[in-house]
Amino acid sequence: MFLRDSFFYMAGIGFMALAKAKNILKVYSTPKPYDISSSEKCIEYDLRVVEDWLTHLRRYSPDDNALAGKSVLELGPGSDLGIGIYLLSKGCSQYNACDVNDIMSSTPDNFYEELFKKLESMDRKTDISFLKKQLKEAKAGRPSRLNYQVRKDFDILSAFGKASIDLVFSQAAFEHFDDINATVSQLSSVCRPGTRLAVLVDLKTHSRWIRDKDPNNIYRYSKCVYNAFWFRGIPNRVRPFQYKEALERFGWKDISITPLTKIKSCSGMNKTFADEKNQMDCLSVMICARKP
Ligand SMILES: C[S@@+](CC[C@H](N)C(=O)[O-])C[C@H]1O[C@@H](n2cnc3c(N)ncnc32)[C@H](O)[C@@H]1O
Repeated sequence: MFLRDSFFYMAGIGFMALAKAKNILKVYSTPKPYDISSSEKCIEYDLRVVEDWLTHLRRYSPDDNALAGKSVLELGPGSDLGIGIYLLSKGCSQYNACDVNDIMSSTPDNFYEELFKKLESMDRKTDISFLKKQLKEAKAGRPSRLNYQVRKDFDILSAFGKASIDLVFSQAAFEHFDDINATVSQLSSVCRPGTRLAVLVDLKTHSRWIRDKDPNNIYRYSKCVYNAFWFRGIPNRVRPFQYKEALERFGWKDISITPLTKIKSCSGMNKTFADEKNQMDCLSVMICARKP
């Protein structure tokens, strides 16, 4: 075990140095598990993400029509507006999204053409021309039901205003946020009473190869060593109990945290993560909560 832990400690340093170098050189890898040029896989991913959020929300608090007429906010949407378009097609009245990186400007038109074909094939009653119009307006920077905002300050309160949101979704993005407390505090202002939230957090190491071999690699390091490789967007190592504390602090209720993927055992964690409350066996969680 000692040899294995020492090996992964050293290997992780190499991966963190590589990630930092890529960030300095502005070499970004795709935010999705697939490259955006693989339209079919990316579309499947977007549709699956939405269906998973809705399944978790239904289990959390049954609601036959969770989306109808709702103003939705997605935080950290990533490479395309596929999720927003699918949510509109399913009846939400307004899709809002905020990101610090403008990754969407390079989404190929072909992705959207394939998405519209897919939505039409799934339900012939879907108003594709309405969806196309929303996309066109959004791309032109005009008012649209697809309201995608890129803000380096990630100030969602300035972006959307007070009490403007009914549902909050996020997929594998909260673990990148600079300041969870600041984000949750702003969420509490932009959300109307009764808002529900479904947020998937990927707690694993993000660098490819090592995340499969040693998913908890980033937790092997002291704060001091980890910070030496810091760049904006590096996984923040916030653990599930800290998300719960942040939501409670800003008045969210009925907080449920469901482990989605787990490992049997892990060793060699830094003492910061030694306490059981860190739930180091959890590799990803779904957080649901309600604003009273
Ligand atoms: C792994 S990607 C996930 C994207 C998308 N939700 C998906 O599932 O494909 C992480 C997202 O968080 C955003 N992000 C990274 N650093 C951030 C930060 N410091 N504050 C806010 N968002 C950030 C990225 O731009 C990206 O959209």
